Amino acid sequence: MRSVQSSNQDSALPRVAVFASGSGSNFEALARAAQTGSLDADIALLVCDKCDAGAIGRAQKLGVPSICVDPADSPTKEAYEQQILWTLEESQIQYVALAGYMRLVGPTLLQPYEGRMVNIHPSLLPAFPGLNAIPRSFEAGEGGVTVHLVDSGMDTGPILAQQPVEIVPGEPLEAFETRLHSVEHALYPQVLQQLIGGLT
Ligand code: GRF
Repeated sequence: MRSVQSSNQDSALPRVAVFASGSGSNFEALARAAQTGSLDADIALLVCDKCDAGAIGRAQKLGVPSICVDPADSPTKEAYEQQILWTLEESQIQYVALAGYMRLVGPTLLQPYEGRMVNIHPSLLPAFPGLNAIPRSFEAGEGGVTVHLVDSGMDTGPILAQQPVEIVPGEPLEAFETRLHSVEHALYPQVLQQLIGGLT
């Protein structure tokens, strides 16, 4: 495990950890919403399972502490998740937001955060769960975004919010994807705000 920055635990706001494996644009949207006051939370930690994830650079720019925990360094999934759990506990994390975290969460992390762990998925679930949801939904002409509570399944937890994203006839996939991500970046902070405020 590599620690990139130390954490500030002075804030009275609910403390949120974001888990990401890739670019981290949703992590950045959440962190910016918190920093500008539209999300009443402290995005207190970024957790990555890939040490070259773009999200880590975004965290450094935004001043958010980040850690990289490489699953290859742990003998079992349980041991990997236990390492993360210790860090979450040490950082007094109350909520977890998965944002492009490309792993199924196991019971070691799920049980302590049940009802307080959310995920964003780029389709109108239950349609197109799992990988490649964007091209699959684009081809089917049925685009959208879902934010849901995390359970043990693949994109199966109770849905908190959904927003369709129109597919414009003749539009290339890349343009659709850009619009879809903009919808994600607006929707995810709103839904997290509602969850934290007890409104979902
Ligand atoms: C997003 O489309 C999210 O819905 C999905 O993975 C993608 C992550 O993108 N779960 P980013 O890393 O936040 O840019």
